Amino acid sequence: MTIREYQEEILRLKREKNACILVHAYQSHDIWEVADYIGDSFGLSQDAAKTDADVVIMCGVRFMAETAKILSPDKRVYLPNPVAGCPMAEQFSLDELKELRAQMPDRTVVAYINTTSELKTACDVCVTSSSAVKIVRAVPNDKILFIPDCQLGAWVQEQVPEKDIALVRGGCPVHLRVTVEDVERARRLHPQAKLLVHPECPPAVTALADYAGSTTGIMAFAEKSEAQEFIIGTENSIVTHLQFACPDKRFYPLSHRCVCHNMAVTTLADVYNCLRGEGGEEIVLPEDVRAGAKRCIDEMLRLG
Ligand code: 13P
Ligand code: SF4
Repeated sequence: MTIREYQEEILRLKREKNACILVHAYQSHDIWEVADYIGDSFGLSQDAAKTDADVVIMCGVRFMAETAKILSPDKRVYLPNPVAGCPMAEQFSLDELKELRAQMPDRTVVAYINTTSELKTACDVCVTSSSAVKIVRAVPNDKILFIPDCQLGAWVQEQVPEKDIALVRGGCPVHLRVTVEDVERARRLHPQAKLLVHPECPPAVTALADYAGSTTGIMAFAEKSEAQEFIIGTENSIVTHLQFACPDKRFYPLSHRCVCHNMAVTTLADVYNCLRGEGGEEIVLPEDVRAGAKRCIDEMLRLG
């Protein structure tokens, strides 16, 4: 089958099954073209909560499919390729977090949404890259424990100096591959270009950026900007998507190493097979885990 034939079949099956296809911005462009909604983690969470479809296909990584299930318990939620996980989501175990809480009982625990559902049950509120600053500001406690991404946490701390944010360890192994040397090289090659980065990058890189924000924030900045050239410091799929969105502008990857294999593992064929009932994994969560994690996501949606 050609890409177009796969896409046509997916669109037909989607109507037949009253399915909704949610697509994270890091998915490949052929998957973008069959999406009902494309977005960053925050947008996907909101859309997962709103859809009235019977079936939700979450093209992204496991914690995103879990988020959709947490918010839509009566819908059948599928991850088209069960291998798609986020290594950052598993950097703390539930026991480790409980021990940290016991050591720092006066701190509100703020979890990046890139965490397992089980871990969310022991946190107070979730944040995404696009909501983190706003939510940390709104938390009614000056003392925060932010897990797991120390880079995002440090970026939030800079913008919310009135709060005391404790960071332990952890981060995105993909964005952590980007270096200051990459910035120097890219700027030598493209001196007119604006540098747009994700706050999961090392703070030394984020400090050099013209703009830092979530995947949709980066895309919106590039689309609206008067500038003609951009160096993109996030997963490299965004370079491709931006080049489609703005054919008259030029986009360059900050580093060829900024590739998330977990995001790339889902293919158009996986989406097709999942809709046919011949692949993918239905997300099933124990009710106590779902309800415990929901409290944390609801708090984010309420504050954000
Ligand atoms: P956002 O889409 O929220 O910017 O997150 C980036 C990311 O790494 C998702 O796994
Ligand atoms: Fe996880 Fe990083 Fe991949 Fe996002 S880019 S899914 S945070 S490993």
